Amino acid sequence: MTSFAREPLGIAVVGCGRMGTHRARLAAAHPAVAFLALADIDAEKARTLGESVGAQVVSDDPIEVIEHPDVSCVIVSSSESEHAKPAIAAIAAGKDVLIEKPLATTREDADAIVAAAEAVGVRLRVGYSQRFRRNTFLSKRYVDEGKLGRITGGLARVYNSRAQAFAIMDRSPDVSVIVDILTYWVDVIGWFMRGNLPVEVFAAGAGDVLREKAGPDGPDDLTHAIVRYADGAVVAFTVCYSLPADFPTLGQSVRMEVMGTEGALIIDDDNRESIVFSNQGIGHAYVPGHQMKMGYLGSTTSGDWAMGRMFGPIAEETRSWLDHLSTGVETHLATSGEARRALEVGLAMEESSRTGHPVKLRL
Ligand SMILES: NC(=O)c1ccc[n+]([C@@H]2O[C@H](COP(=O)([O-])OP(=O)(O)OC[C@H]3O[C@@H](n4cnc5c(N)ncnc54)[C@H](O)[C@@H]3O)[C@@H](O)[C@H]2O)c1
Repeated sequence: MTSFAREPLGIAVVGCGRMGTHRARLAAAHPAVAFLALADIDAEKARTLGESVGAQVVSDDPIEVIEHPDVSCVIVSSSESEHAKPAIAAIAAGKDVLIEKPLATTREDADAIVAAAEAVGVRLRVGYSQRFRRNTFLSKRYVDEGKLGRITGGLARVYNSRAQAFAIMDRSPDVSVIVDILTYWVDVIGWFMRGNLPVEVFAAGAGDVLREKAGPDGPDDLTHAIVRYADGAVVAFTVCYSLPADFPTLGQSVRMEVMGTEGALIIDDDNRESIVFSNQGIGHAYVPGHQMKMGYLGSTTSGDWAMGRMFGPIAEETRSWLDHLSTGVETHLATSGEARRALEVGLAMEESSRTGHPVKLRL
């Protein structure tokens, strides 16, 4: 239920990298945000971003901004394995929290965050921003209207160049592209399944390009995973983040199909139909210094800035979260329970691929 009341918001962003920069710039431009504080363990990053967005407080100590009395909500944009500490501190301080996906990289961290939020009762959501791709939320509408009948299964496939995979491995060496990237689509399909939970996973992977960088325990180049849901529906997930470094995808090229007894959704989000080409090079959004001559327009995972405004999933998602906090309007951001399940499915995919055996899930 929306009301005409507008709560002024005090936002703290913890982690001033790529995502933290988007979140801070979007928060600074949101009409309900009256106070903005930024923290990064790299003091220079917090200071530079703070100057560009006009933040009132910048710090190299996340606790200082989390506990600031003018902060009502904390956005945790630190790297994947660094979510739990600031998230739990924010919950303990009674602040609402938005955490970047994945919720955490380990079951222990994820469970600690969920338990802390349940005990205190703050609003906690997770930035599974592909829910805010236009084709995704339109698909959700048709699923909810029953246009597909009973969902019998489908597929979700995402690929990208190794340039980005290497950047992720540098930032968070302990997180695989399954838990970090395929998780978006595990979440989206789980959202479409409306409480029909995954019960079994079988996965297999191959390829040595990513292992050449990460070492013998590193990830496969390509993984296929089949997930069976409680009512028998079956979905095939594929991730390949090892295409040649100059492959034109700037974030994610996606194919999604959802089949039902009454209809189907076929989503071609490879973005091949719109390209930009320049002899001067196109900068890759996630890989500093990586210049490509050609890029698929609109393939960045988080969205793009143009003329001082951001367009795309992270922009929609951030505005949706701030609107929700300020006015109470509904948001379709993932809950911590949904994010916890997506992590469990990803970990099961890793285990199945490693052992060669199916993994049963009890969610
Ligand atoms: N939804 C999306 O579209 C999207 C896209 C990319 C990344 N992400 C997610 O966003 C998160 C951040 O990714 P990124 O690309 O911005 O990474 P990044 O490396 O650009 O930024 C991470 C920042 O966190 C800081 N940091 C690390 N540990 C910290 C700590 N304990 N306290 C405070 N700051 C800390 C680092 O110094 C760095 O500035 C990850 O969880 C990632 O999976 C989401």
